[in-house]
Amino acid sequence: MRAGVYDSGVGGLTVAKSLIEHKLFDEIVYFGDTARVPYGTKESKTIIKYSLEALELLKSFDIDIMIVACNTVSAYALEELQKNASFKIFGVIEPGVLAAVNRLKEQNSSILILGTKATIASGQYEKLLRQNGYNNLISLNPSLFVPIVEEGLFEGEVLQSTMEHYFKNIKQEPDAVILGCTHFPLISKALQNYFPKSVLIHSGDAIVEYLESKCNIKRSKNKTSLKLLASDNVKILESTANLWLKN
Ligand code: DGL
Repeated sequence: MRAGVYDSGVGGLTVAKSLIEHKLFDEIVYFGDTARVPYGTKESKTIIKYSLEALELLKSFDIDIMIVACNTVSAYALEELQKNASFKIFGVIEPGVLAAVNRLKEQNSSILILGTKATIASGQYEKLLRQNGYNNLISLNPSLFVPIVEEGLFEGEVLQSTMEHYFKNIKQEPDAVILGCTHFPLISKALQNYFPKSVLIHSGDAIVEYLESKCNIKRSKNKTSLKLLASDNVKILESTANLWLKN
């Protein structure tokens, strides 16, 4: 089975990594819209327009299924994408919520949702969590985490003081932290050190669980082959993939 994986840029490689590790597909065609990243600061109509263009591009690679790795696209454009394709398209928000629900026994558990400005403004994570009876929610847009990750500062002073800046008003450690942005799994070690008792919800693991449990997708016997496409500077995407997909 050939899957198209779409993200606004390089960040969705964190989701591709989980899909590759679990051998869910024979082939992944990854498209990162590196010419127009970030999406997280854009208006919904722009996000939908870019997403439909990405869909047309991936259609030309004869994909059987599409995974939207980007939380921002999942929040704003999923329905529009689904209306325009004959194959199944999955986003990361519903799987993320399901992963949180599966891991949290108590409905009064506290959940910290981290995402881009647009994802947080959409209220999509909150809406689905509330529908599942979880109301003890805090949403935050720690926008500086994105450039910090892109600089490769996965640990150290800069990240530590940025976490202190964003989390200063969080008085009690949350029971779960939703990493609602493709970049955040790369700093999960630092976030886990900051919130040692919290369960971290990673979109990549969540979509693997979701596809296996809800969509009956079986693991392939073969190693997944990966084709990388970018709207600008595919070399950067390739070198990021070499770095991030390694460990
Ligand atoms: N891929 C985006 C997300 O997961 C983060 C980067 C961006 O703002 O485009 O929401």
